[in-house]
Amino acid sequence: MNETTVIPDATRSGTRASQGDAAVDSGSLAAGAAVRNDARFLVRKAAVLGAGVMGAQIAAHLANANVKPILFELAADGKDKSANAKKAIDGLAKQNPAPGATAAALKQIVAANYDEHLGLLAECDLVIEAISERMDWKKSLFEKIAPHLGANTIFASNTSGLSITELSKQLPADKRKRFCGIHFFNPPRYMRLVEIIPTADSDPAMLDALETFLTTTLGKGVIRAKDTPNFVANRVGVFSMLATMHHTQAFGLGFDEVDALTGPAIGRGAPPTWSASTRWRTW
Ligand SMILES: NC(=O)c1ccc[n+]([C@@H]2O[C@H](COP(=O)([O-])OP(=O)(O)OC[C@H]3O[C@@H](n4cnc5c(N)ncnc54)[C@H](O)[C@@H]3O)[C@@H](O)[C@H]2O)c1
Repeated sequence: MNETTVIPDATRSGTRASQGDAAVDSGSLAAGAAVRNDARFLVRKAAVLGAGVMGAQIAAHLANANVKPILFELAADGKDKSANAKKAIDGLAKQNPAPGATAAALKQIVAANYDEHLGLLAECDLVIEAISERMDWKKSLFEKIAPHLGANTIFASNTSGLSITELSKQLPADKRKRFCGIHFFNPPRYMRLVEIIPTADSDPAMLDALETFLTTTLGKGVIRAKDTPNFVANRVGVFSMLATMHHTQAFGLGFDEVDALTGPAIGRGAPPTWSASTRWRTW
């Protein structure tokens, strides 16, 4: 789970063509009007709610793919209420590994705050929530933003493991079909896996459109996960890490020996187990 797979960023010229090609293919298979709409689903503009570790980097990766990101953060005190979001955008340029493909991409990210800019959400094809992992805080934000989501906007939560179904209950019934979980891993530009977590209300055509966007435009590998605590990768990953720790102790092994046994020798990438576990938090 901690492997770093560096995938090429979607090229700026290729992005639109790829989305268009996918739309034509799905469109020829589509049966209903709603499906046909989603078959043409293009993400021109997206909002990310929360300018922390994940939100700011997800915004950067959207910008890498030529999607215009609006990055929301809690309003700052003082004259410039978007100062918190601006600070997070400035911080992206200093991060290693680099979240932005180019300095120009990072300049595409628009700083916003919930006091002044909720109206901008209506223009967004995709809205990704990435605030702190608290059910009550997320629900309160959902209540605030729901009236501003566009009729065709896909809204998704980047929660690591909270119940997507429970979160969806905070949305009005008509918005639930365009809601699901979208679990990126850290660092989102480099970690290939994204989990899509549907609820019973999620529209299958919407999920297909979102998956096409993630694979074709953002260059991700997608799995669909059930709405169980921590979904797939973190459940398997945490078990794997704990099992490794258990066996390290049980067999009296050194860290270097375990790294040698559990790295490229068994088909996993570098950095190996102990280095990776201490280097990145992936949930
Ligand atoms: N950090 C990771 O490795 C990682 C990986 C995958 C998924 N996630 C998930 O992504 C989400 C964000 O995690 P993070 O690590 O970026 O957190 P973070 O602490 O870095 O950022 C959280 C952001 O939420 C904002 N926030 C806090 N309370 C808020 C509120 N009541 N309303 C609006 N905004 C509020 C904060 O100002 C902050 O910018 C969580 O759901 C987390 O589980 C994290």
